[in-house]
Amino acid sequence: MKRALVVGASGGIGHALVQELRHRGHHVSTLSRGSDQFDITDEACIIDALGRVTGPFETIIVATGALEIGAFGPEKQIKALDPGALASQFALNAIGPALVLKHALQYMPRDRRSVFAALSARVGSIGVNRLGGWYSYRASKAALNQLIHTAAIEVARSHKQAICVTLHPGTVATRFTEKYAGHPRVSAAQAASNLLWVIEGLSPSQSGKFFDWRGAEVAW
Ligand SMILES: NC(=O)c1ccc[n+]([C@@H]2O[C@H](COP(=O)([O-])OP(=O)(O)OC[C@H]3O[C@@H](n4cnc5c(N)ncnc54)[C@H](OP(=O)(O)O)[C@@H]3O)[C@@H](O)[C@H]2O)c1
Repeated sequence: MKRALVVGASGGIGHALVQELRHRGHHVSTLSRGSDQFDITDEACIIDALGRVTGPFETIIVATGALEIGAFGPEKQIKALDPGALASQFALNAIGPALVLKHALQYMPRDRRSVFAALSARVGSIGVNRLGGWYSYRASKAALNQLIHTAAIEVARSHKQAICVTLHPGTVATRFTEKYAGHPRVSAAQAASNLLWVIEGLSPSQSGKFFDWRGAEVAW
């Protein structure tokens, strides 16, 4: 039986990914803040939590993230930029998933195909940013894309069949988008199904890239 690890399993998309992976016959391990005291912004916590799961994993998905942290929401103007809030966005959305890869790489098999996917966001693309705003969130996801792209180059040397990617899940009806409920959103179950369809179709030659839920490459 193939094994999967979902980090951030208490989230809207994370929970749906767990359900869909189980439905597809994977043995799924989960990590989340509520059940495991897992804080992705704390490296010691990541090491401790990963020490308690049983690999190897053919699939690792990091589904943590936030647009708002504490009192700080997405900035409309540069004058709203707060250094602490910007650092918090980087800690959660960029550094955390990269640290998961740092410590979970030992659980990725070297002799067969495996996938490490971190949920990013299209708004993290510099190339398609025409609206502006959302400084911290955009920058943190752009940093995540760079970190995973860079790691993918290195991982390919030791894990020839590994695929490391960032994925845009679409606009999904979760806690995350509650304030934007007027916009068309897909269900978390649909998003999970879309994301797993993309993950299952990826080949090692596509490692290091940024894809949306349709499997289309997103510009950096
Ligand atoms: N929903 C969308 O439309 C959309 C669009 C583009 C990208 N994304 C990306 O998709 C990912 C998942 O989004 P979602 O819609 O599923 O959001 P969500 O329902 O709010 O779930 C977020 C998850 O992140 C976890 N989390 C937050 N801070 C954490 C921390 N410090 N340590 C550990 N876990 C932490 C939450 O844990 P708790 O349950 O403990 O709070 C929860 O499991 C995010 O990276 C987001 O940027 C979502």
